[in-house]
Amino acid sequence: MKTITLSGTLLLLLTLVFPFQSCTKTGPTDLTQSCIIPKPLSVSADGEAFRLTKRTNIVAPDGDTALVRVGEYLAGLLKPATGYPFPVEKAVHKGSIVLVVSENDAEYGTEGYELDITRKQVTITAGTPAGVFHGIQTLRQILPPEIEESSVQPGPWILPTGIVTDKPEYGYRGAMLDVSRHFFHVDEVKRFIDLIALYKLNFLHLHLSDDQGWRIEIKSWPKLTEIGGKTEVGGGEGGFYTQEQYSDLVQYAMNRFITIVPEIDMPGHTNAALASYAELNCDGKARDLYTGTNVGFSTLCTGKEIVYKFIDDVVGELASLTPGPYIHIGGDESHATPMEDYIPFENRVQQIVRKHGKKVIGWDEIANATLAPNTTVHYWAEKENALKGVKQGAKVLMSPANRTYLDMQYDSTTALGLHWAGYIEVDTAYRWDPAHLVEGIGRDDIIGIEAPLWSETITDIKDIEYMVFPRIIALAEVGWTPAKLRSWDDFRSRLACQGTRLTVMDVNFYRSPRINWSTGKEDTGTGK
Ligand code: ACM
Repeated sequence: MKTITLSGTLLLLLTLVFPFQSCTKTGPTDLTQSCIIPKPLSVSADGEAFRLTKRTNIVAPDGDTALVRVGEYLAGLLKPATGYPFPVEKAVHKGSIVLVVSENDAEYGTEGYELDITRKQVTITAGTPAGVFHGIQTLRQILPPEIEESSVQPGPWILPTGIVTDKPEYGYRGAMLDVSRHFFHVDEVKRFIDLIALYKLNFLHLHLSDDQGWRIEIKSWPKLTEIGGKTEVGGGEGGFYTQEQYSDLVQYAMNRFITIVPEIDMPGHTNAALASYAELNCDGKARDLYTGTNVGFSTLCTGKEIVYKFIDDVVGELASLTPGPYIHIGGDESHATPMEDYIPFENRVQQIVRKHGKKVIGWDEIANATLAPNTTVHYWAEKENALKGVKQGAKVLMSPANRTYLDMQYDSTTALGLHWAGYIEVDTAYRWDPAHLVEGIGRDDIIGIEAPLWSETITDIKDIEYMVFPRIIALAEVGWTPAKLRSWDDFRSRLACQGTRLTVMDVNFYRSPRINWSTGKEDTGTGK
């Protein structure tokens, strides 16, 4: 595939003299040198170049509304920095970017794609619009980082020619935001969604309730937000999403092929609910709002029937706002709930979620209960719990705290975050294989991985970005790229080159000393 023509040789020489990562006027000519993350299954180059011009159009079949929407998304990405119009049309001509969904092609699976760049045309083919969307993220990363600028740049906008074929190892590649300990506004969550889409993550788990705050409007239990949404860790003003705002977030994520997984944590981590409704407490007395950071002190009164009416109402409203398959029921650190109460509670709550047509995810402690069909165990702390789940036939979602918890500090100098699960530098986040982490939990037991950001110390989007980037990029590759194709040294150099893109996007990322960053602009990363 790697044929070197005369002009190819000339361009190759120019590339050697002016390395493309500094984005010379010649542009890149070797697709295999592009710093794509997650690493695709295969990349072959043929040494020529395709150029975006003001005549480039995006081709999507008329009437395929999903693909036309993806085409509009691509146009929206490319317009600001190029200043070109990128109409989405049905006619192919020289210089088109063509989007194709080929449903008969089983090889791409539900998220794979092929990106074929020739001198004359770019074609992204996939089995689904999601696959085309992921192909667009690859195309985006092959373009110079200046494509991310919000104002017109000089270009040129040159893509090296060749073929990328790709599909993910795991179907669930997620991140989690704890919007309870500190509340994050809709615009902050949207920015987060945009950033994780670039690295092909496809699930966003929102931790919507905890001791410190209840963050989703429930119309049948309005005091949850009127009272329970009023504060956060440290006593700030807190907040909540109205159902309308929440649906807007769900749609925004869906347009980026990201499924939101809502979590209502129970029976512990419920002080905000217990403060809102006295009847959820065994003693019938409402709790005070809580703005500290202790865990394990609260519990719903599992013996009261009203508690199950409450859960049925909450899960019912949440299910109606949730097009995705999952509702997360928490279940972690319920130290104030005796095990003999915890087990029947979890058994019953799983049935409530199933009744509303959703599948259950719960933190690994729930494997102490009898797991319903299709309940997924979310491994974070106790291998024994995860193994109990597998023995019951459950699948596992992997979030080992010492690899994936994004609130863990990078090292002892990190100003934000905690370190109870250890320090997590970028290489620690990268160098593990989900299928070989826990003896007895193999590839087929695992649906994927998730990187949670708990927010006891995280107050705004800049804090989020500092703790999440660049580790989420490492974890995105752990979830997408088969372990046998991954290596730290290779990842390290691709991540270094992503630094410029992150800088252009104004991401407040941690400049890990383990990476030789090429950041393009002045370093501004701060972790407070
Ligand atoms: C957890 O970190 N308590 C799931």
